[in-house]
Amino acid sequence: MEKLRVGMIGTGFIGWLHARIYHESYGAQLAAVADSDKNVKKKVKDTFGCDFYTDYHEMLESGKIDAVDICLPDINHVEPAVAAAEAGKHILLEKPMARTAADCIKIKAACDKAGVRLLIAHVLRFDPGYKRLYDAVKSGEVGDVIHLSAERKNSRLLAERLKGRTSMLFYVGVHDIDLVQWCAGKRITRVYAQRIVNINKKWNSEDCIYVLANLGDGTIANFEYAWTLPENFPTGLKSKLEIYGSKSTAFLNRMNQGVEIMKEKGTDLPYELTDMLHWPELNDRIVGDLKNELDHFVDAILKDIDFVMPVEDAISAINVIESIMESYKTGMPVDVKEI
Ligand SMILES: NC(=O)c1ccc[n+]([C@@H]2O[C@H](COP(=O)([O-])OP(=O)(O)OC[C@H]3O[C@@H](n4cnc5c(N)ncnc54)[C@H](O)[C@@H]3O)[C@@H](O)[C@H]2O)c1
Repeated sequence: MEKLRVGMIGTGFIGWLHARIYHESYGAQLAAVADSDKNVKKKVKDTFGCDFYTDYHEMLESGKIDAVDICLPDINHVEPAVAAAEAGKHILLEKPMARTAADCIKIKAACDKAGVRLLIAHVLRFDPGYKRLYDAVKSGEVGDVIHLSAERKNSRLLAERLKGRTSMLFYVGVHDIDLVQWCAGKRITRVYAQRIVNINKKWNSEDCIYVLANLGDGTIANFEYAWTLPENFPTGLKSKLEIYGSKSTAFLNRMNQGVEIMKEKGTDLPYELTDMLHWPELNDRIVGDLKNELDHFVDAILKDIDFVMPVEDAISAINVIESIMESYKTGMPVDVKEI
């Protein structure tokens, strides 16, 4: 296989960036795009000049692709992932893997049965900052992990864009649950959560969810999620991860990534903090974490090497989210079920 021929399923917000990265890639070829919105066809043809389908089943049967990259809303992950596996295609599936651990297991079983590779797109695993935190724990630099603190707060514009289509736990919270479990090297065993639905009620969305979690041996972690930052907040995202150990502490702050732009009076966003890490552009190409992730997917398939993130970790994060949801609904702490 010279170049991996990739077919995109879904080219909305994140799928368009994925499509661009394959189009700009040296190891992959963007062979086709499937999107149920037929209005996307002209933009795809003009930008990429590749085949376009409104029905992804036709793309799977075309004989022109080796792998698919699924960037559909999380409610639609199971059916296309199973269909792609049954068609013998390797799969990159956007996070969250699915909405229940049972559905995740269904996807994994279909991939195992078909003998195809599956990577869940947890992009922050490909951010060198989070990898440094992981290494600090793994190498013993931090010592025994005592407690961790994770924060991911977005602008209320995100609630407006998604209009209740999904929970903040699935759209963003899944990142930190995975990062905490990965960095600490332990699974979350018990959670207690509360949420507020007030200013974002009009979008059928939460304002915030706070979670206190136990990780097996007495380590505790807290998670603060919110979609309450004002529209003109200098970045759409305020996030951090802090790890406190018996020897040292390791902090990652992802709000200010080094570039600050002060604009003239009367501008909508007078002070801007620019994304320099996730998907910035350099010389007309997307660079950063997202490109690192897609390069890894392509490379690992072409060279037949293991993915850095096992599917079981993605399933575990969804299992924890199910318990968090049960906790804020019942108002009680919940033990995370064994899977
Ligand atoms: N890793 C990240 O940083 C990141 C960022 C944003 C979104 N995501 C994830 O990516 C996924 C997609 O989110 P989004 O915000 O890009 O969604 P979106 O709504 O912007 O785009 C979804 C696209 O899928 C198409 N679509 C829907 N159903 C389809 C079907 N059955 N067949 C073909 N096309 C179909 C829509 O027409 C649309 O173009 C979600 O799982 C989300 O959690 C990840």
